[in-house]
Amino acid sequence: MPDERPVVFVTRRLPEAVEARLMRDYRAVLNRTDQLYDPASLAERCQGADAVLPCPTDRLDAGVIAGLPATIRAIATFSVGYDHIDVAAAVARGIVVTNTPDVLTAATADVAMLLLLAAARGAYSAERLLRSGGWTAWAPTGQLGIQLTGKRLGIFGMGRIGRAVARRARGFDMAIHYSDVAPVPPEDAAGAVYHARAEDMLPHCDFLTLHCPLTPQTRRFLDGERIGLLPDGAVVVNTARGGIVDDEALIAALTTGKLAAAGLDVFDGEPKLNPGYLALENAVLFPHIGSATVETRNAMGFTALDNLDAVFAGREPPNRVA
Ligand code: DGY
Repeated sequence: MPDERPVVFVTRRLPEAVEARLMRDYRAVLNRTDQLYDPASLAERCQGADAVLPCPTDRLDAGVIAGLPATIRAIATFSVGYDHIDVAAAVARGIVVTNTPDVLTAATADVAMLLLLAAARGAYSAERLLRSGGWTAWAPTGQLGIQLTGKRLGIFGMGRIGRAVARRARGFDMAIHYSDVAPVPPEDAAGAVYHARAEDMLPHCDFLTLHCPLTPQTRRFLDGERIGLLPDGAVVVNTARGGIVDDEALIAALTTGKLAAAGLDVFDGEPKLNPGYLALENAVLFPHIGSATVETRNAMGFTALDNLDAVFAGREPPNRVA
């Protein structure tokens, strides 16, 4: 009997349990070696497939989408962010686009807190001191950082992850300010102060954490001018997308001491990053690990598959973005 299960082209190696479900329910074309595919080859590689399951490392721009075979019905990305996909181009071709929200909220909010703490307490330079053998004695004035307790945290983007960070930060007795296109319901705001204009929030941010999607409107949001609105000695954290920050402006502010520290999990053009970051003692730098827990990566894969299952069963996928 011919195998009529849909063919799903998967661009990256996925967690074992996710690949097992893929192979059970689909004719899956897997990437066993996890090599990064050249974007120019993606459309060609998708020949014969009914859906593609990409990751944020794949750029599905208008050119790639134009080249996808007519058989492709869905792009089910293994991510909540979908700035790597030209959604309008997909819609124009009648291709459904889905993502994986919710399941990575906790893990990403945890990393935002980790970076807030690590940046504020100089975790990188403290650990470097110890490992380099430079720690000679406990000192009353050594390695002094900034305390979170009682400080003001500004959240730019009060979506799922922003709210989860707010919940965690309340546990550190931080006062929450936020800015978004609209205020969140009072039960979600839980006393957080809303600022319709980010520029009005920035002067109140001892700490600023970014949680908006990368769009043409948010690209380079944190530029020199907005950094100038932050209190002197503020701490900046970014677990959203590198493109939201103007790297040169952030590096300059960390170098002059305008900003005390930064914690960054994402970089414009990653995995390449502005080399200026590497020289900074007051920056904690992670290689985009926000969602990197076993539980979360499994859940992201299963969510992507729930979306595909719905598409191929003729149902509305639970996480359709277009
Ligand atoms: C996403 O899903 O968009 C994240 O950046 C991956 O961690």
